[in-house]
Amino acid sequence: MTTMDPRKEKPEEAKVEIQEKPKEVKEGTIAIIIYSMYGHIARMAEEEAKGITDAGGEVDIYQVPETLSDTILEKMHAPPKEKYKMITLDQMVKYDAFLFGVPTRYGNMPGQWKALWDATGKFWTTGALAGKYAGVFVSTSSLGGGQEMTVANMMSTLVHHGMIFVPLGYSRTADLLGDMNEVHGVLEVDPGSLFLGSPWGAGTVVGVKPKDERPTPLELRIARIQGQLFCETVSRVKFKDRSSAAESRAQPQV
Ligand SMILES: Cc1cc2nc3c(=O)[nH]c(=O)nc-3n(C[C@H](O)[C@H](O)[C@H](O)COP(=O)(O)O)c2cc1C
Repeated sequence: MTTMDPRKEKPEEAKVEIQEKPKEVKEGTIAIIIYSMYGHIARMAEEEAKGITDAGGEVDIYQVPETLSDTILEKMHAPPKEKYKMITLDQMVKYDAFLFGVPTRYGNMPGQWKALWDATGKFWTTGALAGKYAGVFVSTSSLGGGQEMTVANMMSTLVHHGMIFVPLGYSRTADLLGDMNEVHGVLEVDPGSLFLGSPWGAGTVVGVKPKDERPTPLELRIARIQGQLFCETVSRVKFKDRSSAAESRAQPQV
């Protein structure tokens, strides 16, 4: 039996506190924040962003800092990181609406996402994210791998922060999500024939050995619709001036 050298395997600390100077954010701009180890969530994010632009919105895409060591990432055959800027807490709080891209880990968010949320204690106590809007899109390797569970398991975090969940719903996706012609369930036979996503949020199923054909055109279409719908929903809101909102949170009335 080989013994692991704990010093070599120790994960690097999450770099969530590294502060680039936070860039100014135009009111109403939507932040898509993702973690993507193998690129599928990143591809979905691009489509969500197109949907936001289709609906006349503005969008910035960020990624969540890595928490695994290079050694472990190499063992997991993880390709180099995506090109997006790393989210910082200072930057995150400047947005009023978010789409979170979450590849499942045992039906839940990955540790990289959890590390970011675990660093938001100050936001929780001050209500800095309260009343802000959030949608979720997901990725799993299998059909029963936890697409809806992953979104549902995000709820606790959103609720504790007082964030408002915006589902994908069926209003513009009933025919697509209900398209049984594409659900065959055997990836190896016909890689283009299985797609996922649910009214909880767009989703892609990538298979145990991820393939280039994932996400499918249909999954990407649904992701784009989610971007459009999310943007339309948050565009109905007149966001309060951020400086006065932050001030009132800092001085709670008792
Ligand atoms: C530790 C670990 C746990 C995972 N757990 C699940 C799971 O519960 N269900 C599932 O379908 N896929 C599971 N997967 C597969 C990932 O969800 C899949 O690799 C990911 O959605 C691909 O997205 P990405 O290309 O953006 O990284 C797991 C992967 C890893 C590494």
